[in-house]
Amino acid sequence: MTEQNSCRVLIVGAGSMGLVVGYILSLAKAEVTFLVRPHREEELKRPQVLYSYDDNQLKTYTDYKHITDPSKIIGADYDYIFVTLDAHALRSEVGLSLVKMIGDAVRGTQTKVVLATAFIDLRSWFIEVSGISGDQVTYGLLLIHAYAPRAVTLPLHEGTDSTLLEQADQAYRDTLGPGFIVDDSSPAVAEGFAELYNASGLSTCVVMPAAQLAVFGIPLFPVFAACDLLGWPKYEEIDSMGEVWNLAVEAAREIQGLSILGEPGQKAAATITGTGLAAQFAGMEKQMLPLDYSAFNKYHHGGKVNVQDRELLNACVSYGEAEGKTMSALKELIKRVESQ
Ligand SMILES: *[C@@H]1O[C@H](CO)[C@@H](O)[C@H](O)[C@H]1NC(C)=O
Repeated sequence: MTEQNSCRVLIVGAGSMGLVVGYILSLAKAEVTFLVRPHREEELKRPQVLYSYDDNQLKTYTDYKHITDPSKIIGADYDYIFVTLDAHALRSEVGLSLVKMIGDAVRGTQTKVVLATAFIDLRSWFIEVSGISGDQVTYGLLLIHAYAPRAVTLPLHEGTDSTLLEQADQAYRDTLGPGFIVDDSSPAVAEGFAELYNASGLSTCVVMPAAQLAVFGIPLFPVFAACDLLGWPKYEEIDSMGEVWNLAVEAAREIQGLSILGEPGQKAAATITGTGLAAQFAGMEKQMLPLDYSAFNKYHHGGKVNVQDRELLNACVSYGEAEGKTMSALKELIKRVESQ
């Protein structure tokens, strides 16, 4: 489609996810603008260097614009607004006013919104706060694992070019099948975005039923909490019979059983096992190499600093309690993470 050549995308946030997705969309000939806080401006004035763990090459990303004033999005008529802020930032006071501003910019236009913020039922919340029509908003999950090598040094594994990695602003691994998944809560938005993303030729995007995506994504969080309690062992060394791992399995089962996750959730809850879950993570760990998956997760999900993960788990407790469930394993897991 030739009209994609002029597709205009605003990416909210220029962290690892924003920059990698921006690079991919730029390969699809989209015109990308980042909305960033003023302190990030200096950094974005120079090209961004990306290291790919997939081909061990550096990529230089120059072809983007940036703005720091959120009110500039009003009337800008982007084709897509892609939100990458974490759930804590998005639901903070500053985040709320930004969501309302996005609402003002999008209502009554053709602009579509893709939310790539990990949280339960985020799309409903976003639609309510922004006042945007549901058929303009879809939810997505980035399967590409990206981080800033200057912010954290991960253990090196054979196959990584450490000299190149050191020169990079961002590093990423795109090996889990699709690089991005959008759910079908707004099918037209999802299909259009997947088509644009696929046009990059570098990474692919698939559309998945909303409940299925939630069932895939949200139960990862009790596992991260358990890994934090266990001190981030390698997944292949997890004691899948251990007490903490069992707690994570029970908590994941409680989350999968939430009515919001529908039938796919019920099915997953009926079949999840400790050994199965451990094998799933060990498999991902292997596939991620030479990126160290456990150390990557430790950086993104480790420690008490990780407020957004705890907010997500607490929100799952609230959803469960509203359905009359005890959510006792999940509550116990949260308690242990908070008191460690
Ligand atoms: C994008 O690519 C994926 C993987 O090849 C494919 O399954 C999907 O149908 C494509 N989607 C669109 C809208 O082109």
